[in-house]
Amino acid sequence: MIVYFNGKFMEKEQVSISPDDRGFLFADGLYEVIRSYNGYLFQAREHLDRLSYGATHLKLGRTDFSELEAIARELISRNRLESEDATIYFQVTRGVAKRSHAFPSPAPAPTIYAAASIFDSTAGDKKRKNGISAITIADTRWARCDMKTTALTPNILANQAAVENDAQEAIFIRDGVMLEGTHSNFMAVFDDVLVTAPLSNYILGGITRNFILDLCRLENIRVEERPIFEKDIHLASEMMIVGTTTEVTPIVKMNHTVFKTGKPGPMAKALQSAYRSGIETLTGSL
Ligand SMILES: Cc1ncc(COP(=O)(O)O)c(C=O)c1O
Repeated sequence: MIVYFNGKFMEKEQVSISPDDRGFLFADGLYEVIRSYNGYLFQAREHLDRLSYGATHLKLGRTDFSELEAIARELISRNRLESEDATIYFQVTRGVAKRSHAFPSPAPAPTIYAAASIFDSTAGDKKRKNGISAITIADTRWARCDMKTTALTPNILANQAAVENDAQEAIFIRDGVMLEGTHSNFMAVFDDVLVTAPLSNYILGGITRNFILDLCRLENIRVEERPIFEKDIHLASEMMIVGTTTEVTPIVKMNHTVFKTGKPGPMAKALQSAYRSGIETLTGSL
């Protein structure tokens, strides 16, 4: 597998990351995952803009990572993934320096890593068709969830709790509000209106979330960005998670209890099909 590391393409086994890398020592870095459909990089610019946003707020010193789009294309080509479903993972850290909490001075060059892998959507397709189980969990994350940092310990613990409860995703609750999943945004349907948490420092501004909200505007589906209180969720007719690898996946069971019909609802199905058509239009190839 050919990957990209600090300016060069190389075999993955040749990558050598210093134990003094601040990504290793402090999780002082950011990541992104872009989906490639038959070689078409989906929402690449939006993902790289989010990386720039994170880099600005982390004061990484460098904020323009637009060259990563061409690097992603090169990785697709070098790994012969042009006709495949794939993901491209990017990670940028503050770089290598003697361990000390404050920023190193002078600033080291950021460490940049990118890798493209084939993405098997079989399991995801089954989940999209039948829906998944989710749990709710207290949000113990920090108050800058708008940055996609590699510091994912609360997300890992929450997702593991989901697995231990025979569920596939955990929805974070803060002050009674259902914010988002461990690796997805959360949406629910109330009276035919698609509702999702407003953008804030408590959620990641999901690229899929934004794409779906745009699709809804095109399809005349009513949308509200407002808090969803857990105490009101019984009034919803549908729940779903959305994300780059998740796309639109309905939730049919919450906290071990079947939700409503226990089957994917009409809004989730409509969004799944609009999402697929959106990709078809963009790629012209599916
Ligand atoms: C916490 C969190 N929220 C939401 C998302 C969905 O974001 P996107 O649609 O950009 O993949 C992710 C994706 O990894 C995530 O980690």
